[in-house]
Amino acid sequence: MATSQTPPTPQEEKEELSHGCKELLSSLPTTNSWQHRLYQYQGFWYSEGFLLGTIACQRHFQAHDNDLLLATIPKAGTTWLKALAFAIMNRGCYPYPQHPLLSNNPHKLVPFLEMDYYTNKQTPDLECIGSPRFFSTHAPYTSLPQSIKDSNCRIIYLCRNPRDVFISLWHFSNKMRPETQSPISLEDAFDLFCAGISWRGPFWDHVLGYWKASLKSSEKVMFLNYENLKREPLVLLKRLAEFIGCPFTTEEDREGVLHDILRLCSFENLSNLDVNKTGKTHMGKDQYKFENTHFFRRGEVGDSSNYLTTQMIERLDRITEEKLKCYGLTFPISI
Ligand code: A3P
Repeated sequence: MATSQTPPTPQEEKEELSHGCKELLSSLPTTNSWQHRLYQYQGFWYSEGFLLGTIACQRHFQAHDNDLLLATIPKAGTTWLKALAFAIMNRGCYPYPQHPLLSNNPHKLVPFLEMDYYTNKQTPDLECIGSPRFFSTHAPYTSLPQSIKDSNCRIIYLCRNPRDVFISLWHFSNKMRPETQSPISLEDAFDLFCAGISWRGPFWDHVLGYWKASLKSSEKVMFLNYENLKREPLVLLKRLAEFIGCPFTTEEDREGVLHDILRLCSFENLSNLDVNKTGKTHMGKDQYKFENTHFFRRGEVGDSSNYLTTQMIERLDRITEEKLKCYGLTFPISI
């Protein structure tokens, strides 16, 4: 055990963390229903790695006023948002053929705070990242570290209609399942999703947390949705750049920089790059290995209508209306 004079070694840190966490994990509600074990913590469902990282962040992360955080629920378009934000912030830094997005998956360029930095480590060195620091998270708003809420750091939240999030998640989860497990049926997955049991679900509570925060402090929390980003990419790209603090100049607009960024980050371009066709992304110290190709499926609005029955759509829409409409939040489903 470390004393107050001696900082803990990485091994001691890991042992302390795993001891404390084992106790916590064993006290939480769990389910194996999505093929991977999920834990319910502060009202939301997590896989083990993301949960331990979230708790470590809550305990130790200190936000800076100029930090930028990209927040999403899984399958809402995280990969796209990361690419766009990275391209906006780093425009003009690289000649096009050497642009990092051409040879790196966006998740490598904008790591998850709780997964890439805080899994297996209580106090990662975040000062070496440079300034402004740029992170992503799947954590619900209510479970963000207090220092994020207290600081002036900015948050961009991207949401997506629940029908498409669900179908995207169902496909992704089946691709990610251990070889020994059979696929989860659409019907079983749907019942779980509607009951709020899904990665960082309940979906509606996740969205609502950031929606309320954006209504309270629009200068701090920008709320976007996937469907509008598809429909009006130029308008929203400009707003994103303004919010991030690096608006496009008239000259950049005239030179076609915005169109270049949209093309670079488009589903068609990213999904056809070698790195995204054959590469893998490791998260949480190799705890999770994702085939990059799994982050790119159809990239469309409304693909869920190819899978969901009319009854399923009605059920999902009813829940969405009950939970969100009174807060003025609705989803454009078609474009
Ligand atoms: P679909 O499964 O509906 O195709 P996340 O990045 O949060 O994991 O979300 C994945 C979803 O975003 C997938 O949706 C994926 O195809 C889509 N996606 C990935 N990159 C995209 C891009 N550049 N533009 C639009 N959608 C994209």
